[in-house]
Amino acid sequence: MTSTPALYELRGATRFFQLGDSTIKAVDGVDLSLDAEEFVAIEGPSGSGKTTLLQLLGALDRPSSGKVFFEGRDLGTLGDSELAELRLRSFGFIFQQFNLLSTLTALQNVEAGLAPFGIASAELRERSLAALSEVGLRERAFHLPGQLSGGEQQRVAIARALSGEPRVVLADEPTGNLDSKSGADVIALLTNLASKHGITIIVATHDAGLAAQAPRRLAMHDGCLVADGGKSARSNKRGSR
Ligand SMILES: Nc1ncnc2c1ncn2[C@@H]1O[C@H](COP(=O)(O)OP(=O)(O)O)[C@@H](O)[C@H]1O
Ligand SMILES: [Mg+2]
Repeated sequence: MTSTPALYELRGATRFFQLGDSTIKAVDGVDLSLDAEEFVAIEGPSGSGKTTLLQLLGALDRPSSGKVFFEGRDLGTLGDSELAELRLRSFGFIFQQFNLLSTLTALQNVEAGLAPFGIASAELRERSLAALSEVGLRERAFHLPGQLSGGEQQRVAIARALSGEPRVVLADEPTGNLDSKSGADVIALLTNLASKHGITIIVATHDAGLAAQAPRRLAMHDGCLVADGGKSARSNKRGSR
């Protein structure tokens, strides 16, 4: 019997940085399999390699050695334009600093994220407003980021990440700039939207409380994967509710 391939398959994935005479082993031989629609937290102290691993998973970087397969494709063999296309079509990104353009309204920020798709402007606006409605910010569409709270800004970033209908959302310390209540709200929103749309979420965080909300917790230390808690058996995937 053939089984569907994992969404991600990492085999000895490694990313080293050379700084003068020293080699920094940011990600050091990670073996990992992730299924579609998983919600996974990658936890670990600062410097443990979480961001570097997310960059490999998000096709923002290539491994120094080892393999990163996404939907069966070996990302290390793809050219820059193929990686860019993959990022556009398959991945949404969320960052600690929100990364909104301060001179653009919430709506324009979402629209800017969709610009590379070359959608006609009426549909662009419609899709962007729908994405803002989904994160509960339809009424704030014409506000600038500076007129929004941190939690609201991160919700705009979530709308932007989801508007491209990605398969995977990669979030790097998404609650790092938020108070604990707004942080919990952001994670709850992300979780609900991901399960509604069948999206995989991978969250890097040094916050154990946040990681505890994820059904599967991976722990990094010195570039190595040191724990894999709640690993979903392939035959025991989360249901579609
Ligand atoms: N571009 C880079 N050049 C050199 N060293 C890097 C680079 N990116 C990350 N590192 C180093 O790799 C290690 C892991 O970093 P990072 O992935 O950012 O960890 P985390 O996100 O867990 O804080 C750290 O020692 C960091 O200084
Ligand atoms: Mg980091």
